[in-house]
Amino acid sequence: MTIVMDRIEALDARAREIMRGNDMGGYTIPTKGLYPFQWNWDSAFAAWGFSTFDLDRAWTELETLFSAQWPDGMVPHIIFHRPDPGYFPGPEVWGTRTDPPTSGISQPPVAAILARRILAADPVAGRARMKALWPKMLAWHRWWRRCRCGHGVAAVAHPWESGRDNCTDWDPGMARVDASGVGEYTRRDTGHVDASMRPGKLDYDRFLAILQFGRDCGWDQQTIVERGPFLMADPAITFILIRAHRDLAALGQELGADPGEIATLEGWAADLVAALPMIWHKKLGAHVARDLRSGEFAPAISSGAFLAWLANCARDEAEARLIAIWDRVRFGIPSSDPAAPGFESRRYWRGPTWPVVNALIAIGMRDSGRDALEARLRRETAELIANGGFWEYFDPLDGTPCGGDAFTWTAAIWLTWARGGLNGEGA
Ligand code: GLC
Repeated sequence: MTIVMDRIEALDARAREIMRGNDMGGYTIPTKGLYPFQWNWDSAFAAWGFSTFDLDRAWTELETLFSAQWPDGMVPHIIFHRPDPGYFPGPEVWGTRTDPPTSGISQPPVAAILARRILAADPVAGRARMKALWPKMLAWHRWWRRCRCGHGVAAVAHPWESGRDNCTDWDPGMARVDASGVGEYTRRDTGHVDASMRPGKLDYDRFLAILQFGRDCGWDQQTIVERGPFLMADPAITFILIRAHRDLAALGQELGADPGEIATLEGWAADLVAALPMIWHKKLGAHVARDLRSGEFAPAISSGAFLAWLANCARDEAEARLIAIWDRVRFGIPSSDPAAPGFESRRYWRGPTWPVVNALIAIGMRDSGRDALEARLRRETAELIANGGFWEYFDPLDGTPCGGDAFTWTAAIWLTWARGGLNGEGA
């Protein structure tokens, strides 16, 4: 037991060192080189990680994130606080003309879910800071409602908005994107990590074509949603948003917010729940991404379906199907079904497992009383990190670490959740 404890403590120290090392002063970068700016959902996970050893710094992380909120409520997916030539597409490509410069799309709204956990760590010390953040989070949730939920469930207008960039989920929508006019450009990501782990050239052309459409219409949301080259319903964001609306409502109760606004949040969550049948795929037997332009479903079940537990919206008939997918790998929830065509165990979101996604799924498992599943997921995630290090993501078949090293969100997930998987808490 002491040997295990020593090992956990050494990993704790390394995780804190990584987080401190990626701290640029008020915000944290995901990893040096590959991702040198502030990323939206990475920062929310970073805040959760900081809350285990520096609560003040945890709140600061969220405050810095929300300081870049757009007047319409959107919280952008990247904030370019300082120039860095090592990343493409940088601020000049996005052309948002904001101060600070940002990207023009958003990312999974996990902030309220994690802020609730951070506040629980010290409700007295965090109260004033959460109170100041609450209306900003509400404005962001309102943006999701107004700009992305017009079809019922939550949609993404760019695969990057989903946070699961090149998942098989986006294949139908991406196939319809015309990238012939995208022009010449130089990628930077493949200079940092092996090209075999990153999206391919045609994918990248299409990512840029969608970006260019947004820029060319001045990031006008109505135009993007009505006429943009890509719009797909995302099960993951839908489930995250249901949970986030409810958590923000609960935070509002605790902080004495306006009851009308709390009821509004609960109503938004209920509307999303009511719309879920539109992404229920009868034959696959799970919630599946769907192209809102053509009606076509994605070809496979992805990790997004496992987030139904987080939203307390799981359907019993999906459970065996989901567990069977998990049983096809050794470590963690794969980002796409290994039995489906298109699965690649190391290429970005086409198969690998992510500690952050596992942690969100685990919150749902725990809250819905699936303790044995939660323990298994925690143990597998802990093994990945303890054996492989704090990498961006992992091959779910053999545990090979992939992507970028010394990654903030992997360190954060270790400190907040995964570490317990090593000493039997996850057994
Ligand atoms: C990649 C991921 C995205 C993440 C970002 C920074 O783009 O797909 O989810 O936020 O890297 O870590």
